Amino acid sequence: METERVAILLTGVGKRYDIVSAFARHAFVIAADPSPLAPAQYAADVRVAPPRVDHPGYVPFLERVVAEHDVRAVIPLTDLDIEVLARSGLPAFVPSPEVTRATYDKYEAHELLVSHGLPSPPTVLPGEDPGGYPVVVKPRRGSGARAIHVAADREQMEFFVGYSEEPVMVQRLLRGPHFSIDLLCDLEGRCLNAIPRSMIESRGGESIKGTVVADAELVELGRRVGETLPVRGPCTVQVFRDPELGIGIYDVNTRFGGAFPAPMYAALPGRTYPELVVRMAAGERIEPHVGEFHAGMTFTRWYWHTELDGQMQPTGRDAVEGGPRPPR
Ligand SMILES: Nc1ncnc2c1ncn2[C@@H]1O[C@H](COP(=O)(O)OP(=O)(O)O)[C@@H](O)[C@H]1O
Ligand SMILES: [Mg+2]
Repeated sequence: METERVAILLTGVGKRYDIVSAFARHAFVIAADPSPLAPAQYAADVRVAPPRVDHPGYVPFLERVVAEHDVRAVIPLTDLDIEVLARSGLPAFVPSPEVTRATYDKYEAHELLVSHGLPSPPTVLPGEDPGGYPVVVKPRRGSGARAIHVAADREQMEFFVGYSEEPVMVQRLLRGPHFSIDLLCDLEGRCLNAIPRSMIESRGGESIKGTVVADAELVELGRRVGETLPVRGPCTVQVFRDPELGIGIYDVNTRFGGAFPAPMYAALPGRTYPELVVRMAAGERIEPHVGEFHAGMTFTRWYWHTELDGQMQPTGRDAVEGGPRPPR
């Protein structure tokens, strides 16, 4: 019943219509985004436009929304406000401020992983010897695969370091099969599940094609990352299985990954990540079920659209018929 649904606040919803609509099937969803044209807000029950994340009014705005709707869980969908939420008193499904800060900075993330004995490729700051080539020169606080350059030798590395206008790091280039592990931890840092998928194709740092794989080593790695850091809420761990260096973790994002459909397809009934978050938000303690999922499903993603009228309200019309058709 409408009135009994748990209220969930999703922030920075942007284009992530799939996530907002998956939550909206199980909860009363409030979508926050400063942009009046953020498409994903149209999948929510309520839409709010907070000030920008760096504005002092950002957290007070969310506090008012949480109080008004009795929100039980705040879930960020971008990197921008994870640390702000971790420092706030809001009921956010994010790790501690220390962990969120470290994972937002890829060099600090490397140091954090190594300090816990987790596999991270050799990574140095400019001016230090990376110990081998090729390397990637990438922004410490990059996102969307922006400004990442492969350097074959020291001369190229120094060129890209000098060329960059923001703090960068130098990391050994990983090769071999490429995977991401989507995991979910409860608020005590217990890993509930960890679901690996292959990275078949990415655009702008977001995975657009991939297959869920039953790879016990990656499942266990995801669980270890989740419970060691520890993580609270969703997290995506990006790795290569390098033929020489072995498994290397090159990025940890403590939010839902771009390839949200993969763990949705893989989950057993009642155990999709949005359902588990909603149940936890309602006060339930979920038993960990790491490794229990279906493998083999592939997702392939495309763009969609929403028509808005002169008052920026969805008309419900569609330009084309939606949904895939079974083969004839
Ligand atoms: N050490 C590395 N070795 C090989 N490829 C890398 C490495 N680091 C990043 N990449 C490539 O760049 C992409 C984006 O890297 P990532 O660190 O996740 O940055 P962002 O957070 O900006 O997306 C990865 O998906 C991968 O293809
Ligand atoms: Mg990344």
